[in-house]
Amino acid sequence: MASTDVFDQSLQEHVWRRQFFYNAFKALAYNGIDGDYAEFGCWGGLTFSIAYAESRRHRHRATLWAYDSFQGLPPAADERDVHPIWVEGTLSTTLAQFHELCAEKGIPSSEYHAVPGFYSQTLDRAAEDKAPRNIALAYIDCDLYSSTLSVLRFLMPRLKHGMIIAFDDYFCWTATQISGERRAMLDVFGNHERWQLLPFMQFGWHGQSFVVEDRTIMGA
Ligand SMILES: C[S@@+](CC[C@H](N)C(=O)[O-])C[C@H]1O[C@@H](n2cnc3c(N)ncnc32)[C@H](O)[C@@H]1O
Repeated sequence: MASTDVFDQSLQEHVWRRQFFYNAFKALAYNGIDGDYAEFGCWGGLTFSIAYAESRRHRHRATLWAYDSFQGLPPAADERDVHPIWVEGTLSTTLAQFHELCAEKGIPSSEYHAVPGFYSQTLDRAAEDKAPRNIALAYIDCDLYSSTLSVLRFLMPRLKHGMIIAFDDYFCWTATQISGERRAMLDVFGNHERWQLLPFMQFGWHGQSFVVEDRTIMGA
């Protein structure tokens, strides 16, 4: 096969994600939306390192937060977690490996916080003085419905007009379920009285992002 016929899937997915982060930080910087970058599901550090590079490209001074078990996926806790690809214990990087990946990508340790542990501990019982208060971009890449639900409940008191929320696995489902991240998003934001999600960018076959809008600004 000629080399021009080879479709490099991982390179293509990298490009899609890079385009998303380029546009997201461009929009945040252009519109004067300050705050941190919070990532939920960090594994190989790919999206974390792209977020760092694109935030700095656009002179957005976000501090970065990495929330992950650093032990891989937890077991399914709900039928809406079930998916043929998401298997307990896979996608595991240790905290030490994650710090090494960040160093390799040139992310200074002073510019990010890594918060290890399952979300049932780190988010559901977050110590307020050790959690981000002002988030500009939340990137949700933890696959499972129950994990995403923990993330969205954590984000709820931190929502603000103009921030962006991205779901890396929005277009994932099974033969019997609207599952995973989209299902959690529908459960939390469907018909929400105050917050509405304006579609911002689809990236690749899998990801979808939204701008958070505050209905109270528009008046009832
Ligand atoms: C698809 S990987 C993340 C990929 C990463 N964004 C990258 O670019 O390399 C999913 C991650 O979500 C984490 N995760 C899923 N559910 C979790 C939970 N309830 N608590 C903590 N981490 C969780 C897993 O440990 C795994 O590292």
